[in-house]
Amino acid sequence: MMPADPLEAVTAPDPYPYYRALAARQPFGFDERLGLWVAAGPAEVAAVLAHPDCRVRPLSQPVPTALAGTAAGALFGRLIRMNDGAAHAPLKAILMRSMASIDAATAKARCAGLAGVLDLVPDMAPLNGATINRWLFTLPVVTVADLLGLPVRAGADAVAVAARVAAYAAAQSPLATADDVEAGSDAARWLGQWLKMPAGRPCPAEDLGLLPALRQAAHANDIAPEVVAANVIGVMVQACEATAGLAGNMLVRLGRSSPTTGGLDELAVRVAIDDPPVQNTRRFLAADARVCGVPVRAGDAVLVLLAAASCAAPVEAGARPWTFGAGRHACPGDALARALAAATVDALLARGAQPAFLAQAFRYRPSHNARVPHFFEALVRPHSPRRPTT
Ligand code: HEM
Repeated sequence: MMPADPLEAVTAPDPYPYYRALAARQPFGFDERLGLWVAAGPAEVAAVLAHPDCRVRPLSQPVPTALAGTAAGALFGRLIRMNDGAAHAPLKAILMRSMASIDAATAKARCAGLAGVLDLVPDMAPLNGATINRWLFTLPVVTVADLLGLPVRAGADAVAVAARVAAYAAAQSPLATADDVEAGSDAARWLGQWLKMPAGRPCPAEDLGLLPALRQAAHANDIAPEVVAANVIGVMVQACEATAGLAGNMLVRLGRSSPTTGGLDELAVRVAIDDPPVQNTRRFLAADARVCGVPVRAGDAVLVLLAAASCAAPVEAGARPWTFGAGRHACPGDALARALAAATVDALLARGAQPAFLAQAFRYRPSHNARVPHFFEALVRPHSPRRPTT
């Protein structure tokens, strides 16, 4: 059945025929039902993301009403992801450089090492749908934390950090309940305190991670420490749901089709294009403007269908998958995300995860923008480890 609108499409079983039809019929237009402009064609998606008046937040509401006045809201207001303008440009440049300095092989090796740490945590075994969901929301995030140099190499620390990051990410959703917002605020406070803690163990110089260099560069640019801290948490939050979605959608793909020859790296790219974890993002008009040739009023909102752009026309080999965005807020973690998703799937396969069973028993987590499978307690082969291949 065709989804009723682009928000329903995010978690529909197969939204791609709907997206393709929409991109062809109305590449940019107003959706009366949602009260939103919708960009669906690749050229229109690119134009909105590049438009100087299309901002990541409404001018009148820098922080969502549900979060305003909470610790979660204070953190939100400091994120480069949620701000436009010159004030955030220096930190953004520093973060971009930090992300770019992580190579895929290092990220994968850290991920494999941390998988060994998670093996020792009672909640992560035995491997079934429920524990696989936990692995997907834990391993990529703690690998990012570890690459930054944060203390997550004791299993209990890793699980606690990942749970707080996920709680904070959930509070940002428009579907968040009052309880989710409260849990997100607790998590924001907890993560803020945790970042202030000394590493707690002597670190060899090569093991310090990116954080000291990032803090030093920020200090040299007069960027307040609390803004740096918020954005370090922000990087982990960005890594959380979307990377879980990419790895989960890879498991679903593996379960539905015969093994690919290209390996997990190629599969990560393919799935990021064909069954993307982030299906849309939003922009808000800061002034009356013409967008895609249409007059649009200040305050109007645009739903930008990255997933529609992705399936409406072939994506050229080597091009950035649309799921990672484009323009001023394009994801700086795209290569890292693919490496982490491939390494996470590899770790799960090595521990006996059976995609064919998983793909038969899952639903998508309720969301208006992220396509993240939630696996049920499916059968898995009794533990029969094999050597990781990536
Ligand atoms: C499959 C996984 C991921 C996907 C699909 C994804 C997608 C995106 C998208 C679509 C945006 C832009 C949103 C917009 O323009 O409205 C974004 C921004 C961002 N992402 Fe990712 N992301 C992923 C993983 C990661 C990872 C692993 C990191 C870092 C470790 C990361 C860090 C960021 C940051 C810092 C931003 C904000 C950039 C800015 O506003 O200038 N992401 N991501």
